[in-house]
Order: sequence, then structure tokens, then C-alpha cells
Amino acid sequence: MERRNFIKGALMATGGLFLGGSAIHRLMDDKEDVNSSLPSTIEKIHQGAGKNVLILMSAGTRKGNTDRLTDAYIKGVVERGHTVTKVYLGSMRVEGCRGCGACQRQGHGCVVQDGMQDIYPLFEKCDVVVMASPLYFWTITARLKAFIERLYAISVEDKYPVKGTVLLMTSGDDRADTFKQPLQYFQVISDVLGKQPLGYYCAGGCTGCEDIGRYIDERHLDRVYKMGLELL
Ligand SMILES: Cc1cc2nc3c(=O)[nH]c(=O)nc-3n(C[C@H](O)[C@H](O)[C@H](O)COP(=O)(O)O)c2cc1C
Repeated sequence: MERRNFIKGALMATGGLFLGGSAIHRLMDDKEDVNSSLPSTIEKIHQGAGKNVLILMSAGTRKGNTDRLTDAYIKGVVERGHTVTKVYLGSMRVEGCRGCGACQRQGHGCVVQDGMQDIYPLFEKCDVVVMASPLYFWTITARLKAFIERLYAISVEDKYPVKGTVLLMTSGDDRADTFKQPLQYFQVISDVLGKQPLGYYCAGGCTGCEDIGRYIDERHLDRVYKMGLELL
């Protein structure tokens, strides 16, 4: 796959200061207490006075390109004063929808007992859902798609909770149409969740797992951090 620097058409923010994403984990004083009741795949990052932001990081690798992009965005969102919870969706067992229809017939939510049972209450409470994914075969990860399918269980007469949406993606390719399919799908999902997208950031030209080390251009991290600062 072709490697170049980054995709210009999908950028939502411009230049500035680079701030490493991992520092956000130290912004919340009482983090240890709050997180002791959560599974290791869910991290309460910050309690703020702003919106409740739920981050779904669907790459399977922590500290990979997508995780780093996500953490840079989170740093901006935290500095903006929002409440942030990060879910390592790619490290969780989350099935796709089985289509059994029990949720619609019985109205008790999803009968499948997996990681989604921890995510449903977080999703219900959030104002904004941030979906982060590496580009896999020209679309989002199977795990993120599985999460989206499972929202069926909380729909009522085909209506879904209203949420703001943000998409963050990384890829190896860096062409004008690299993210065409996931961006189209993101628009559809944002419509389903009742709002226009709040923003997206697509970081092309990343080096992937086939190479010795993963690499994401720091300009992406800088720009996505600024985008996080702008979340209203
Ligand atoms: C299974 C798989 C499929 C991929 N498919 C694509 C693709 O269709 N287009 C692309 O540009 N990069 C593709 N990539 C590369 C990743 O999107 C890229 O390396 C990404 O930055 C990895 O993110 P991570 O470090 O968070 O895992 C693929 C990688 C894997 C492992």
C-alpha cells in the first residue's frame, strides 16, 4: 500500500504545539479510585464541567497509531474541560448483533453478555461519542462495526439516542479517496444518532504493523489535539 505523509482533504485543524497523548492519563487526581470499579479496558480519564465524551478506541494495539491519535485528541478535550471516558474497544470481546430480536420483543436490552454490557450505560450517559479506528480493508474495524450493530438493542421503534459524533482514523495509504468509505458511513451513523457530525480527523501515511515500528506524523497529533480543544 502506498505510503505518503497525510491526507489534506480530511483535516479539521491546523498547525501548532505538539502534545503527547499519554500525558492525559495523569490529569485526573482521583483517577485511581474511580477506575478501581471499572474493567481494565475502560478508563475514566477526566471529570470536567463540560460535555460527557465517550471515546471508543477500536485498534487492538495500545500505543499504536490510532491510540496515539486518540490520546492527542483526548488531551485537547480534557483541556477544554469535558468529562472523558476511554474504552479500549479493540481489546474487548464485543460480538456483532446476532439478529435474535430479543431486545425488540422483550425490551430488556441485549441478551448477549459481553463487553457491550459495560459500554451500554456509558453510551447512554454520554453527549458525544468519539469513534477511533485504523483503516482496515478500506473501512472501520470489525470491532467498531460490532459496537454500532449492537446499538440496535437500545433502539426504540427504530429511533436511537441523540449523540454528537466524532471519527478519528489512521491508515497506511494517503490518497484523496483513502477514507471515502468510512467517511460516508460515518455520515450515515451520525444521521442515525440524530446530529450532524461534530468533526473527523483522518491521518493517512502512517507506518503500520508490517514495519519494525509504527509511526504517525506528529503533525497529525498536533492537529487533532487542536481539534479536541475546539470541541464545544
Ligand atoms: C488487517 C489490516 C488491514 C489494513 N487495511 C488497510 C487499508 O485498507 N488501507 C490502508 O491504507 N491501510 C490499511 N492498513 C494499515 C493500517 O490502517 C495502519 O497501519 C494503521 O495506522 C494502524 O493503526 P494502529 O497502529 O492503531 O494499529 C491495514 C492494516 C491491517 C493490520
